[in-house]
Amino acid sequence: MTVSIIVGTQWGDEGKGKITDLLARDMDMVVRYQGGNNAGHTVVIGNETFKLHLIPSGIFFANVLCVIGNGVVIDPAVLLQEIETLRSKGHPVNNLRISSQAHVILPYHKDLDKAQEKKKEAGRIGTTCRGIGPCYVDKYNRRGIRIADLMDPDALKSKLEWNLEEKGFLLDKYYGMKVSYNVDSIFNEYLGYAHAIKKYVVDESSSLVRDAIKKNKKLLLEGAQGTMLDVDHGTYPYVTSSNPVSSGACVGAGFPPNVVNEIIGVVKAYVTRVGGGPFPTEIEGGIGDKLREWGGEYGATTGRPRRCGWFDGVVMKHAAKVNGLTQLAITKLDVLDNLDKIEICTAYEYEGKQITDFPTDIRRLAKCKPVYEEMPGWKEDTTKVKDYQHLPEKAKKYLDKLAELAEARISLISVGAERGQIIRV
Ligand code: GDP
Ligand code: IMO
Ligand code: MG
Repeated sequence: MTVSIIVGTQWGDEGKGKITDLLARDMDMVVRYQGGNNAGHTVVIGNETFKLHLIPSGIFFANVLCVIGNGVVIDPAVLLQEIETLRSKGHPVNNLRISSQAHVILPYHKDLDKAQEKKKEAGRIGTTCRGIGPCYVDKYNRRGIRIADLMDPDALKSKLEWNLEEKGFLLDKYYGMKVSYNVDSIFNEYLGYAHAIKKYVVDESSSLVRDAIKKNKKLLLEGAQGTMLDVDHGTYPYVTSSNPVSSGACVGAGFPPNVVNEIIGVVKAYVTRVGGGPFPTEIEGGIGDKLREWGGEYGATTGRPRRCGWFDGVVMKHAAKVNGLTQLAITKLDVLDNLDKIEICTAYEYEGKQITDFPTDIRRLAKCKPVYEEMPGWKEDTTKVKDYQHLPEKAKKYLDKLAELAEARISLISVGAERGQIIRV
């Protein structure tokens, strides 16, 4: 029995797609457990770059069953586009399964997301405007439309009527947004999607997952976003509307916590954030701009420039504890190759004292100043290194420091976007 969870340890975009693809070849099943097409997971295979938003990053291995779990919210148009893109590049996608309990993103969710962001009454979150938050609101308010409802025209129609009455009123009267759709137009559009995705839908995806575990199959759970974007454990309210943390995998895929063997934290060698909200180690301008340029730090979903900063050991420690990390996969080490000096944040200064426990209340966080330790850069190209021994000594020291802050061992070091650019420790 091997159940491994891949989780982002920062504010997303740590390289989860690359690490999932890497580990997927030895798996029987890869499951996405939360989030939606706010995610953008990049897999680079030779000259081809794939940006996956909903489909698990194990899809390139035809013998690996890839499941979109019950905890995911699905925009069917985006899903179909993604299937089409993969097919056009020679990947048949026959190994995809979709949970009938996953919730569906509807046009009014996207409009509500945009309208809320525009109104900006309580500070703009900088969402991806993909309708993620409003869709999860409906899920938890028990008025959501699930994939199973798409397959049942009567249920779909009545749920649409009920929802559109409320959302139409909100959009029109509160947000002053005119919409072009009505119950019939959405009904017809979504019935078309239902027809197109039907062959992938499974009634009990969690049974599929549990059966695989029972049969001692190897499973990989692919988290989206990251710990600091978790609605409970991140920088609320500047977070997403789901639980990317490792325990979210149990809920979003449907298995008990006692079967988990490994929890792999994906850790970028520096930190990025896209969207609004606190970011203690952000570097505005200067080296921050250089990291964005060297690291190609532009959103895989929205194309927005990512904010860049130094490695944050307080965030790392928080992520290690909340997720129970057993291993670390360090990514983008190569992006630091040209730096003379590298800063690592080892603590925050809060009201005259040094703290190392991350304050998830943003009022306390706003009063924190990072405390840095300076390390020398290695100033050598690491992108062709295949063995740990061949890494520059100073790079090894930097990695040791990251592992020390996380109190976990490093099992993988990524030194480039391509599949082969990986060091197994
Ligand atoms: P995810 O959302 O966590 O899967 O990460 P993204 O795909 O959004 O962002 C990671 C970006 O870094 C992508 O463009 C990857 O191709 C790229 N990448 C991943 N690992 C490495 C690495 O080790 N070095 C470099 N230079 N790029 C990497
Ligand atoms: P992956 O899986 C980085 C951010 C948005 C915004 C906040 C809320 O590729 O790492 P949402 O649309 O979810 O309501 O936006 O969360 N965000 C991400 N940032 N990577 C992601 O996914 C993200 N998904 C959402 O920028 O700040
Ligand atoms: Mg991403």
